[in-house]
Amino acid sequence: MKRKAKTLIIAAALAPSLAFAWPWSTDMMNQPSIKPQEGPPAAFPKRSIPVMGIPTKVKNRDEANDLKSPVEATEASLKKGKYLFTIICSACHGLSGKADSPVGEKLGAIDLTTDYVQETLTEGWIWGTISFGSAIMPAYGVPNEQGGSNDLSPEERWHVVNYVKKQLVKDAAGSVASSQ
Ligand code: HEC
Repeated sequence: MKRKAKTLIIAAALAPSLAFAWPWSTDMMNQPSIKPQEGPPAAFPKRSIPVMGIPTKVKNRDEANDLKSPVEATEASLKKGKYLFTIICSACHGLSGKADSPVGEKLGAIDLTTDYVQETLTEGWIWGTISFGSAIMPAYGVPNEQGGSNDLSPEERWHVVNYVKKQLVKDAAGSVASSQ
């Protein structure tokens, strides 16, 4: 007996790797957990930067000028655009877009219902203005030294463009009528 025990100890000391072969030393890897790259990918956290689908490759407003809205101006898009316009743009451009806000007057924000914005500026230019900012207006697509942020995703910026181009003027006419 004594000799058998001794032999076992010596065998274990000489070949420690054998100890992993015992059934109870089954690796913890074999458990019901989700392994890397297994199953559907998790949803991206909010404010992640999309790298495909909607053009984000342009570097500045000039390059954005010829872009067309890849987001159809559906009722849902216009609704989102109006919502975002109300919480972000209206601070300077006014709820009606006519720059009727005290902050806007001070900064020199322009009336967005004019022919200049509605006819002359392209969808891409407006998207670029929101993304990269303008002379005084801050950027909402890229953080920069002038106080810009990426508060609006590329898609959200298109919803705002859709709203500015397709519904803002109608809403502004309505708000003037109802305030009279
Ligand atoms: C902090 C104030 C401020 C906010 C918020 C703001 N703007 Fe402006 N915006 C300005 C000012 C000031 C100008 C005119 C001077 C300039 O071009 O910077 C302007 C100009 C513009 C122009 C004309 C650009 C050009 O080429 O003449 C567009 C279009 C515009 N804004 C759209 C928007 C939209 C859409 C939003 C919301 C996402 C928005 N702005 C939010 C201040 C603001």
